[in-house]
Amino acid sequence: MSAPSDAQRMEKIVSLCKRRGFIFQSSEIYGGLNGAWDYGPLGVELKRNLKNYWWRVMVHERDDVVGMDGSILTHPAVLKASGHVEGFSDPMIDCRTCKSHLRADQLVEKKGVKQCPNCGGKDLTEARQFNLMFETHVGAAAEESSIAYLRPETAQSIFVQFKNILEVSRKKLPFGIAQIGKAFRNEINPRNFTFRSREFEQMELEYFCRAEEGMKWLDYWLEERLKFYENIGLVRASLHVLNVPDAERAFYSKGTYDIEYDFPFGRQELEGVAYRTDYDLLQHQKASAKSLEYFDDETKQRFIPHVVEPSAGVDRTILALICNAYAEDKAPNDKGELESRIVLRFHPRMAPIKCAVFPLLKNKEPLVVKAKEIVALLRPHMTVFYDEGGAIGRRYRRQDEIGTPFGVTIDFETLGEKNPALRDTVTLRDRDSMQQERIAIQDLPVILRERIR
Ligand code: GAP
Repeated sequence: MSAPSDAQRMEKIVSLCKRRGFIFQSSEIYGGLNGAWDYGPLGVELKRNLKNYWWRVMVHERDDVVGMDGSILTHPAVLKASGHVEGFSDPMIDCRTCKSHLRADQLVEKKGVKQCPNCGGKDLTEARQFNLMFETHVGAAAEESSIAYLRPETAQSIFVQFKNILEVSRKKLPFGIAQIGKAFRNEINPRNFTFRSREFEQMELEYFCRAEEGMKWLDYWLEERLKFYENIGLVRASLHVLNVPDAERAFYSKGTYDIEYDFPFGRQELEGVAYRTDYDLLQHQKASAKSLEYFDDETKQRFIPHVVEPSAGVDRTILALICNAYAEDKAPNDKGELESRIVLRFHPRMAPIKCAVFPLLKNKEPLVVKAKEIVALLRPHMTVFYDEGGAIGRRYRRQDEIGTPFGVTIDFETLGEKNPALRDTVTLRDRDSMQQERIAIQDLPVILRERIR
């Protein structure tokens, strides 16, 4: 099989996502809702694995981070204070020829003339600012005083709850507050599959520290986050760090790194790690007239802490995981002939289904009974898929295509028919090497748990 071009590769990935139930267009039967996506049975497992692992390493395995889960509906005063109502906008240009709305940086330039990327039209409006926030109304009356917003980032509820969480958790600086949740942005041009969506999820940590330690923690979190991506299976060579230049950083940020990934459609941002100084807490203190200061017991000083923020996108990371995992190679069929196979090489920690269980033949009751016992043995520990339909090679192939790292086959050796010493053993097949090892059934939970942790 010759290597597909990047565009072909992306097309194949999108089609696999739909065919196998990772990601569907939202409201597809009504023509689709642009910029919104639904995750199917496998997509939702993959997403949970990612979010659970992030929570594990960012909250549970640390002494200095606690979590929260804030509301999506946000008081307008919060987003006025943070600067979003005034300034959370992108420059928008309209093409008068095909009537499309375009982000100014999406225009193409040919021979020094700006053109519409859709129709090539040169009759374009001037750029004007388009606010990306979704506005809604709370309560029965739709009037100025009932306006609320769907949050454009999870971060602001962390800043607004800073004092409450400080008091209840009794943490000392440096410490962090973590949150995973939905965010909404009315992107002018959602594109590249789920990469730029209007509804998406973020995994954010606000790590509060003393001003003099801000740059140190910025570098620390960059390294931690790079390790995280490697630990979920992204290849280090496909990750890049962009030290965002002064002119492109938010005015309040003293340093920002973008962690970028080589998607098939180009190198794009996966996560921002930003040193936001004391900007947000100061803004909320000013606007609410409530003290958001930290009191240092030792020095008896009161001050507004600074903050370093690693902010990752769930959907973008899922897309990177799928792109990174997608591979085409050859595998033997039941006759031993090599056939093309599509395989998702997910890290076992991320794989939606951890283990598939196959009785060699579905019409041999003792094999089926044993296989179902093994399913029951493994289910408390991991996601398991039972499959008795079709030739064993085809069953392996179906699991390879969804990235199941392990396959257990129950055969006549398991029943001890040929060699009593092999009774109650099974073959354990590895998705990537396609090697099989013989394992005692009772050892399966421990061996597999170790490999998927
Ligand atoms: N609190 C900081 C913040 O929200 P951001 O760079 O605007 O910073 C952080 O967003 C991350 O959220 C991005 O790196 C990306 O992974 C994700 N993200 C932002 N906009 C997105 C969109 N329209 N669709 C999908 N993910 C998005």
